[in-house]
Amino acid sequence: MLVIIKKNYDEMSVEGAKMVADLIRRKPNCVIGFATGGTPLGLYKELIRMHKEEGLDFSKITTFNLDEYVGLPPEHSQSYHFFMWENLFKHINVDPRYVHIPQGMAVDIDEFCDWYEERIKYYGGIDLQILGIGANGHIAFNEPGSSLGSRTRIKTLKQETRWDNKRFFESDDDVPQYAITMGVGTIMDSKALLLLASGKGKATAIKATVEGPITALHPATIVQMHRKAFIICDEGAASTLSTEYSGYLS
Ligand code: GLP
Repeated sequence: MLVIIKKNYDEMSVEGAKMVADLIRRKPNCVIGFATGGTPLGLYKELIRMHKEEGLDFSKITTFNLDEYVGLPPEHSQSYHFFMWENLFKHINVDPRYVHIPQGMAVDIDEFCDWYEERIKYYGGIDLQILGIGANGHIAFNEPGSSLGSRTRIKTLKQETRWDNKRFFESDDDVPQYAITMGVGTIMDSKALLLLASGKGKATAIKATVEGPITALHPATIVQMHRKAFIICDEGAASTLSTEYSGYLS
């Protein structure tokens, strides 16, 4: 595990975008796992800039998103489909045929989840999975208590996660109760992980992730076991790490 501490959100975002761009240049037909939430927005902005100004070519990449709310159609302004198209995909030359986002309206959710897992395998696995982190240590929608070996499935959202996300919805009741999410095991199968965290609100979660014991009660701690995990955080998110990090930890 490599912990990279950057001064602020913008520097964190640029560093993360560089890693993604390096991969695309090295392997134009790579498979990238994308995340939603506020944290990766700066990274996506930088990728868009690289596409427009430097010709970074996304035409051969395949994408898999981590999660989606159950019950929200793709055109719903709070769906993760909408988020990804608005904030990244429509601004780059990604091929829509290679974009995969869990279907929150799937009729048979279990069958869909199995299909999603198969699709990831079919494309040879995810080369780089981008991750944010919930204040309670969740990754994707793998809430505390999620099995560390779990696969793509439906999960009930914790009340605190629904509160964290309610700022995006008109009323508390509108925040969905369920989501389809890649499992912790699915995420760990990715060839590389890139976890981003910004601000003091994530400091406790990052401390547990980097220094804490590995536990299903804090699913992000499992990244300690990954052979190629990068955590890029800003000084706020790194502010309670107890070890003296000179930027790196292996
Ligand atoms: C949601 C998403 C996660 C994301 C988390 C944190 O729960 N399912 O993938 O990491 O929010 O979001 P933010 O980056 O806005 O703090």
